[in-house]
Amino acid sequence: MRITMIGSGYVGLVSGACFAHFGHDVVCVDKDAGKIDRLRAGEMPIFEPGLDTLVAENSKAGRLTFTTNLADAVGEADAVFIAVGTPTRRGDGHADLTYVYSAAAEIARAIRNYTVVVTKSTVPVGTGREVARIISETQPAAAFDVASNPEFLREGAAIEDFMKPDRVVIGVESERARDVMSTIYRPLNLIQTPMVFTNIETAEVTKYAGNAFLATKISFINEIADLCERVGADVHDVARGIGLDGRIGRKFLHPGPGFGGSCFPKDTLALAYTAREANAPQTIVEQVIEVNNARKKKMAQKVIDFCDGSVSGLTVGVLGLTFKADTDDMRDAPALDIVPALQAAGAKIVAFDPEGMDEAGKLLKDITFAKTAYDVTANADVLVVITEWHEFRGLDPRRIKQAMRHPRVVDLRNIFDPEEMRHLGFTYEGVGRPKARS
Ligand SMILES: NC(=O)c1ccc[n+]([C@@H]2O[C@H](COP(=O)([O-])OP(=O)(O)OC[C@H]3O[C@@H](n4cnc5c(N)ncnc54)[C@H](O)[C@@H]3O)[C@@H](O)[C@H]2O)c1
Repeated sequence: MRITMIGSGYVGLVSGACFAHFGHDVVCVDKDAGKIDRLRAGEMPIFEPGLDTLVAENSKAGRLTFTTNLADAVGEADAVFIAVGTPTRRGDGHADLTYVYSAAAEIARAIRNYTVVVTKSTVPVGTGREVARIISETQPAAAFDVASNPEFLREGAAIEDFMKPDRVVIGVESERARDVMSTIYRPLNLIQTPMVFTNIETAEVTKYAGNAFLATKISFINEIADLCERVGADVHDVARGIGLDGRIGRKFLHPGPGFGGSCFPKDTLALAYTAREANAPQTIVEQVIEVNNARKKKMAQKVIDFCDGSVSGLTVGVLGLTFKADTDDMRDAPALDIVPALQAAGAKIVAFDPEGMDEAGKLLKDITFAKTAYDVTANADVLVVITEWHEFRGLDPRRIKQAMRHPRVVDLRNIFDPEEMRHLGFTYEGVGRPKARS
């Protein structure tokens, strides 16, 4: 199959490289000429484990190319995937569909033969129909079908998620489009991946329902963590105790500073907006949004309370800035709430993140970036763990204690063992864990 990917960001680039790995001929398009230049030079514009090798292998095999010329790339394609951004629209929380619709119009002008135009971007219900309308209006003679193929990959594990998905959801409404989509995903038949064929609206709703459910799980365990802190229970044991129930499942039951990233915050907002418009308000999701926003704000206060009510004049060492480990993505990261609030309370911030410091530098002001995790601890009055990078788990608490001015740790990801930390002489607080007995 000849596949064109419009948008070469996290989703477009990973999907494009994986489809090329399946054996298809893939052209990845982006408006950003700098991004395309870097990709052609074999440089990755994002950090995603394994992506550089996958792109290099498939480029070398001649199956994966990059261009800024959308028209040329669309003309010969069997399927064109729209993988552009759908950020939150300013003011009302709806998904901003400007990029999707302008891509649809550009595609329409370039279609030559029968083409399946697939939305891979996360888009509110009704977008697929609107894409079809735009294409028909722009080029009435265009032979095409639209399809919806939402993407469920996670940053940090994107390639594995794409190559071995739990399922593939495809909204199509013609046999011809279904055949094209089945052929594209045929390599996944070997590992018996469930293919869920639906109508277009169902596929669109499925993506939002999935993300909203996962976001709900996170907010749920975060509130349970608050309860555990008050009553001397341990949220990890609670999560294990409930997660082993197959009806509940163990995933997404890790307490922390609130969810962030490029998907859950904007997708929950967009679902709430769409649902209100459809007169079917999603009050649970609306509550999740509120709980999560409040939680991100509360985390700085947790640090301040831990420091006996003031961080003024203190050096706060911050471990991790990205919204989760294994990505350089800073979109809606809890650090963007926590760090400025601590600064406003008079703290000096020294931070380290293995991959996120370039992005963080654009969004956070007046931080000193350290070269290593240990450098963050030097003369710090308190250490705050915001992101659960694997390398932080291996840090030697004894060395940290020696380097710090005051051995105090607020661990918003529970990467350290509270017993061990307290035994070594740290004042330590995690999330949802019993406080030290006095
Ligand atoms: N990031 C994730 O983990 C993830 C997971 C699942 C779904 N999604 C969804 O996938 C979509 C894309 O997300 P992303 O994180 O890859 O975004 P991104 O911002 O990383 O990438 C989007 C890219 O599209 C390009 N672009 C915009 N308009 C274009 C046009 N007309 N022609 C060519 N290129 C164009 C931009 O320059 C940018 O490089 C969103 O709807 C998102 O919600 C993201």
